[in-house]
Amino acid sequence: MSTSTPEKSAWSALREIPSNVWSSIFRNPLPSTDLERASTSFTNFFLHIHPVKVHKNTLRPAYTLGLGLISTFLFFILVATGVLLMFYYVPSTTQAYDRMLDLRGTVAFGIFLRNMHRWSAHGMVAMVFLHMCRVFLTGAYKKPREFNWVLGVLLLLVTMFLSFTGYLLPWDQLAFWAITVGSAIAGYAPVIGKDLQFILLGDSTVGQEALLRFYVLHVAVLPVVLVFLMAIHFWRIRKDGGLSRPEKPQSEPRPLGSERHASQSPSAPPQTIVATMTLEPAKKRVYGLQGFVRGPFTKVGNVPDESVYAWPNLLLAELFVFVLTVSVILLVSLAFNAPLEEPVNVMHPPNPAKAPWYFLGLQEMVSYSAFWGGIGIPGLMVAMLIVVPYIDRGKAGVGRWFARERLMANTIFLTLVVLNVIFIIIGTFFRGPNWSFVSPF
Ligand code: HEM
Repeated sequence: MSTSTPEKSAWSALREIPSNVWSSIFRNPLPSTDLERASTSFTNFFLHIHPVKVHKNTLRPAYTLGLGLISTFLFFILVATGVLLMFYYVPSTTQAYDRMLDLRGTVAFGIFLRNMHRWSAHGMVAMVFLHMCRVFLTGAYKKPREFNWVLGVLLLLVTMFLSFTGYLLPWDQLAFWAITVGSAIAGYAPVIGKDLQFILLGDSTVGQEALLRFYVLHVAVLPVVLVFLMAIHFWRIRKDGGLSRPEKPQSEPRPLGSERHASQSPSAPPQTIVATMTLEPAKKRVYGLQGFVRGPFTKVGNVPDESVYAWPNLLLAELFVFVLTVSVILLVSLAFNAPLEEPVNVMHPPNPAKAPWYFLGLQEMVSYSAFWGGIGIPGLMVAMLIVVPYIDRGKAGVGRWFARERLMANTIFLTLVVLNVIFIIIGTFFRGPNWSFVSPF
């Protein structure tokens, strides 16, 4: 026996450290076969949120416009920059504004960090709203996605509230008066309005109590609620059979299990059936099946496979959207500074004092009727959004933008969206002192 063997094995063990460390973390090599592609999605902690395969329609940029993903990535940026900002921020009326000045003047990259956080927050409100519009205009809220739509409505409300609570934190004139106006809108609710406003502010006016409450809601309560809702939202996408897509033309073979048993009524819920079936058009093959489950998933059989592996197709698409989102936020943060006005002066309200832009439509309506503008109409809108998938039950036109079959639903929805946008534009650009009409030109 040679004496060099132990030395050799010690040396080779040393040399293999990098590859051993790598393979102890990543159990699969870079996949080159379909089995390995499937296994990669399956066994990786970060990737297993994806299905092994997705329908081709999911990857069509023109279908989703990537808006749900962009919203998700903006939230990630918000969490990352928000945690860093927390190292400097103090939720105290005597210190908050000075900390903002420190971020601007003395903290390395402080101003940039604040810009990224602020622009991502505005971007997220806009993107979540646009994502909701895409889901509506493609009819993707219909069965079986009704509940995911309802979760989405909650996500939109939480996103807006998250942004609203963050607005107060710099404790400058803009923050103070925007929140004063915004929280006054809550006070217009009948019976409980004043109590609601008091619970929100912890006092009858915006002050230290309100700052602390908004801070806790902003950095702890609402992000946790949002993460929880997002997790269910993503889980439901999987359980609802992936993203919506156009129905197959009748001439194409239908997925196994999509036929109904003669004894079943058309509205009967999915169930397991036991049968021996001869499949069309592959007439010669006879399958003895113990049973299969009905549902939205493509079953094994004579169906043309329109799905692709999530690795690398979906992951590359996601990576692209991620890089794009981060790049745009970086560029915007380089070009524009987040506003910081004078420190709070409760004796000198700006005229007009305006709510954050996404509530300016409400503020504009409030100028006509406090109750209807602030509570009645927005309450009705939210209620309508929540019930729409349970009222609009037709299946036609799902999975296509502006489908002719959905002309009426889309027209009503777009009219309301356009009205909202018009009110926001009027509130932002055409309102001056005492909320009188001014020309921005
Ligand atoms: C924080 C907010 C939200 C996040 C992060 C989010 C994220 C996502 C993502 C990543 C997808 C899949 C890809 C895509 O469609 O772009 C998706 C799909 C979906 N979202 Fe959202 N979403 C949010 C808010 C909403 C809202 C406000 C609604 C509606 C009121 C909504 C309803 C839906 C529905 C129904 C689907 C399935 C669409 C389909 O099957 O085609 N989501 N969401």
